Amino acid sequence: MCGIVGYIGCKNTSEILINGLKELEYRGYDSAGIAILDNDKIEVYKALGKIKNLEEKVSHNECVLNKDNLSIGIGHTRWATHGKPTELNAHPHLGEYSYVVHNGIIENYKELKVELLEAGHKFVSQTDTEVIVHLFEFYFNQSNDAQDAFNQTIKRLDGAYSILLITKSEPTKIFFMKHGSPMAIAKNTTEDGDEIYFASSDAPLIGHAKDVVYLEDGVSGVATNSSLSFSEEVSWDTLPTSKQYAQKDGYRFFMEKEIYEQSDVVTDSMLGRISDEEIIFDEIDANIIEGINEIKICACGTSYHAGITASYLFERLTKVRCNVEIASEFRYKEPLLKKDTLFIVISQSGETADTLEALKMAKKAGLKTVVVCNVDNSSMTRIADATILTRAGIEKGVASTKAFSTQTVVLWMMALYFAKQNNSIESEFLQKEIQVLREVPSSLTVEDKLHEKCRRLSKRYLHGHGFFFIGRDVFYPLALEGALKLKEISYLHAEGYPAGEMKHGPIALADPELFTIALMPEHSHYDKIKSNVEELSARDSTICAISPLDFELADDFIKTSNKSHYMLEFFEMLVVLQVLSMEISVRLGNDVDMPRNLAKSVTVE
Ligand code: AGP
Ligand code: GLU
Repeated sequence: MCGIVGYIGCKNTSEILINGLKELEYRGYDSAGIAILDNDKIEVYKALGKIKNLEEKVSHNECVLNKDNLSIGIGHTRWATHGKPTELNAHPHLGEYSYVVHNGIIENYKELKVELLEAGHKFVSQTDTEVIVHLFEFYFNQSNDAQDAFNQTIKRLDGAYSILLITKSEPTKIFFMKHGSPMAIAKNTTEDGDEIYFASSDAPLIGHAKDVVYLEDGVSGVATNSSLSFSEEVSWDTLPTSKQYAQKDGYRFFMEKEIYEQSDVVTDSMLGRISDEEIIFDEIDANIIEGINEIKICACGTSYHAGITASYLFERLTKVRCNVEIASEFRYKEPLLKKDTLFIVISQSGETADTLEALKMAKKAGLKTVVVCNVDNSSMTRIADATILTRAGIEKGVASTKAFSTQTVVLWMMALYFAKQNNSIESEFLQKEIQVLREVPSSLTVEDKLHEKCRRLSKRYLHGHGFFFIGRDVFYPLALEGALKLKEISYLHAEGYPAGEMKHGPIALADPELFTIALMPEHSHYDKIKSNVEELSARDSTICAISPLDFELADDFIKTSNKSHYMLEFFEMLVVLQVLSMEISVRLGNDVDMPRNLAKSVTVE
């Protein structure tokens, strides 16, 4: 998740690139940079943080036009996946005479880097991206043919990438490739000649051109100001007119966009971390679990719910005791902290005050610490012994969605990784779990009929004296998460509860005005949850059942698909809860992205 831009034409490239990056800042901004090609020299500017920091560095430079009265440039706003957010790791990345910007992850960058180092290439950054430009020059130095070198390069890349590459060897061209990460190309005809625009989304293109092509995976090509050639047939569209609409990629809210992004960002979170036989975490020592007799997880809010979910998986798979603490309680309870405890904090922002303090306490007590975080270079990543990035991309909606699903997948992979280290699971079991992990992205896709079903149902849940979200096992923290989503954006009262607890008091509230959202997975204690729901129905609570199995006592029923594993049911039901909450909020006329009283990152106690 980041933004790339490119331009060929006779206008002021630095201005066009900077303004284009500003339109993409919603995609991530831990650093930014541009490179402008002027025949025999390339001017490059990089800055940490927001685009305005880059703009201050560039503003004094005049437009760079080369001898053909052409200006060519590429730009990038980064959301780090490999290598800290530093100027050195900021894109564009340089070879001897070429520059590249890249959105995505090069899964096989390590082996490519070894090959290129052995061939004498010098690397300056920690990123995966840098291998692209060195690979291009490796092939160009052999063939002296830029197009061939580019084609050879992209054949060697595994992973997700959209790439723009400029090179002094072809100073009037931009080479491009799209695979797994988005890219749009627009063209405009002026009296001074044609101009070509590139961007990760259409927001930066609006107002500059009318015709746009949204590249499909596998399409590459080369652009000059008078020609655009593609590796295969493309279809041209007309650009939308509203930029705000474009930044949300056509969705009504950032939250809606982020719910729909979950499938892709969970895929990104697994890239380079799973093979058919094993889980790979380069970010943590293989023996980190050695001598560990307890795993303690600490977090707040939605991240806390991911932690509870993980606790079931850690104990079940790794056979290590695991408990989960709310950070604001943990800080003041005088906790027992022993050195044989692995301390994991979970945080989307990496800045939540209570979680940060809890991490400092663990660190001070000499525990091994790991942070599962979505923002590199955040406070927690700078303190923890190891950081595992969730690669969800920037999450704008205050109500966390894709952060939760990527956290849960990463924690599940960690549980398997530790379990293998502990020999508490067989290789065959691990291979089966990996096959299930590969199905998670499809479990997170939002089917149109499901969204429409939630939209229609939402009209029935706009009042009442409250909601119970109930589940068992990992569906209990999922119930907590569903209740929090509803509370946050609809302002209706909701509680998540372990289904087995209802008869220990809460069932006293059962009546037609009490709505019970029941999570009834096929592969996790179905008969138990079914009897819990029947108890509630018998006392006239209004039941909304979410299940792959028909349940005739439900007043409302959302049918999910038959899955082979309870965790696939988990992710499918997560989407239902997120969409239902959002549609209820819409009907109530609330601000879905910025609900009252809340902040995206709670950096105060
Ligand atoms: C969840 O939708 C809320 N935005 C909130 O509970 C959030 O999860 C909590 O504040 C923790 O934030 P963090 O993940 O950035 O630490
Ligand atoms: N993986 C690349 C990096 O970490 C690109 C990340 C992005 O898409 O911004 O620099």
